[in-house]
Amino acid sequence: MLSLDVRSKISILVDYVYLDNASSGPLPSPVVNSVSRFIRLWESRGEPWDEGLDSILNVRVLFSRLVNVSSDEVVCFPGVTYGLGYIISSLEVKRDSNIVVSSLNFPTSIIIARSMASRGLVREVRVATSTNGDIDLSVYEKLIDDNTSIVLVDHVGWLSGHVTDLREIARIAHSHGAIIVSDAFHSIGVLPVDAKSLDVDILITGSYKWLMSIHGAAVAYIRREILQSINPAFSGWLSVEDSVIQRKIRGEYEFSRPIDTSKLELSRDPTRLEPGTLPLISFVALEEALRFIIENDAPGKYSNHTWRLAEYLAEELENMGLQLYTPRENHSAIITFKHKNPESIVRELEKYKIRVAARPSLVRVSPHFYNNKDDIDKLIEKLAGIVRRL
Ligand SMILES: Cc1ncc(COP(=O)(O)O)c(C=O)c1O
Repeated sequence: MLSLDVRSKISILVDYVYLDNASSGPLPSPVVNSVSRFIRLWESRGEPWDEGLDSILNVRVLFSRLVNVSSDEVVCFPGVTYGLGYIISSLEVKRDSNIVVSSLNFPTSIIIARSMASRGLVREVRVATSTNGDIDLSVYEKLIDDNTSIVLVDHVGWLSGHVTDLREIARIAHSHGAIIVSDAFHSIGVLPVDAKSLDVDILITGSYKWLMSIHGAAVAYIRREILQSINPAFSGWLSVEDSVIQRKIRGEYEFSRPIDTSKLELSRDPTRLEPGTLPLISFVALEEALRFIIENDAPGKYSNHTWRLAEYLAEELENMGLQLYTPRENHSAIITFKHKNPESIVRELEKYKIRVAARPSLVRVSPHFYNNKDDIDKLIEKLAGIVRRL
């Protein structure tokens, strides 16, 4: 059961039925308070530098717990695209190799792969295509070969809501010596994700959707053994073994001696991919958001609650005669249906303070752990009238 306490900490729920977590999550009050506290501290006492660095270190630990990895396999970025682009362009891959992507990925990873090809870093981008919102493993089996360097596939489809069988794709990729990288922006925080058992090499997510925080933060897991294949495309004062953050971790005063620039000795862990100051306030917020997600065991509520809400929603939409784009037999917490006029649906629902998202020819509804059946019933009731009118 969901405690009322959780909903009382998400103030938008007083006015709104909020079902748009796949676009951005609503902010819980502990997250809002942490941001205002940081700003007030800066205003009254000067930059809260140490508090910010502490949050980055805490985010690494909290995230590692959430996805079952070790905290020295975690690295932070200012956003998913920044992180994915930096990691992928730093991977040492053969120039005559190919990258395999899924057409169901959010555009950012496909564009990163295309830019690798256009810069001559790989020869070819191969796209696993889908017509029905899911992709059969046999498609990956045909595309991945001994010349594949990277398989780049989102965990949960941003529009389709399908759940990718990462473990099986990892098996195929690894059997050909390829690295598997997954954008898990739509799974981490809402459903249980165990990076080790999925056997992925790199997994990334961002702050502002299912983790219910503000923009400006992303976190990635990089399997320890993969680190040696990463030669950072660029480096900075925080990427080195003797950076001020590493000194802080060792308990030394951060600015006690100059940083040695006479040689390049990168950090031994993935923080070699953190070249400069991160948006500290975004990590202060994300730390609080991760605590909120973990303390309320959001992923643990997935199979008996969130997934069931999505299943009930899918059933009701179909009963209304709407055609789902989401594959019914393999859905997550994202349910999309087809419509010729998605913007009007979203606009009409907004009049009743019900929030969902319009995407090309689709309406996307995405409940999280704090939603309840009443939220879905209110949506369905209003939607029935709107669909009849449009
Ligand atoms: C799966 C996925 N990856 C990446 C992004 C973009 O991430 P960022 O805004 O951090 O670049 C989105 C945004 O919707 C997304 O859905």
